[in-house]
Amino acid sequence: MNDLHQLLEKNRAWAENKKATDPEFFNILAQKHEPRYLWIGCSDSRVPATQLVGLEAGDLFVHRNVANVVVHTDFNCLSVLQYAVDVLKIDHIIVCGHYDCGGVKAAMKNLQLGLIDNWLRHVQDVFHNHDKMLNEIADKELRLNKLSELNVVEQVLNVSRTTIVQNAWRRGQELAVHGWIYGVQDGLLRDLSICVNNAEGLAQAYKDAVEKNG
Ligand code: CO
Repeated sequence: MNDLHQLLEKNRAWAENKKATDPEFFNILAQKHEPRYLWIGCSDSRVPATQLVGLEAGDLFVHRNVANVVVHTDFNCLSVLQYAVDVLKIDHIIVCGHYDCGGVKAAMKNLQLGLIDNWLRHVQDVFHNHDKMLNEIADKELRLNKLSELNVVEQVLNVSRTTIVQNAWRRGQELAVHGWIYGVQDGLLRDLSICVNNAEGLAQAYKDAVEKNG
């Protein structure tokens, strides 16, 4: 446990530094929780959501899982989504994938890693949805990158099809769902040109994004 001592020390230094820069920083955070964005991303430690978009504690509501998958029976993800949309009334949902994703890689290679294989079946489903396009890419790395991008587009579709998002749009709530991908090799985000802000535009936005990223 002594190995963790330095983490606690770093935490104390961080909190002190925050207070030195802005004495009211924690007092303000203690009084309100009003993030404007929900981030749905991968658990990968190289993709630190809040940090890489230059935001602060209190700015980003976050859900992360292996390979940033949104499944309609995942009550963990759905609860985060429902709270974000109905209670926090966030304006934007960002689904963010990343290149060199171990989960996407394992799904593409059909690796057997244990329980997680069942979770990654969802990414394999994405592959099967677009197998013609993906199998035409001879270079393995490029094919993996493409699957990572298509996985984001599919998850944007899944988020947009939840009753939570559909009902928000039906009652006229302002809410947009975006698809981005992050490069662990250069620290940069790429916009996958999919932005959905109403139920009617979903099918076309999905079709355009698949074609654009195909
Ligand atoms: Co990943």
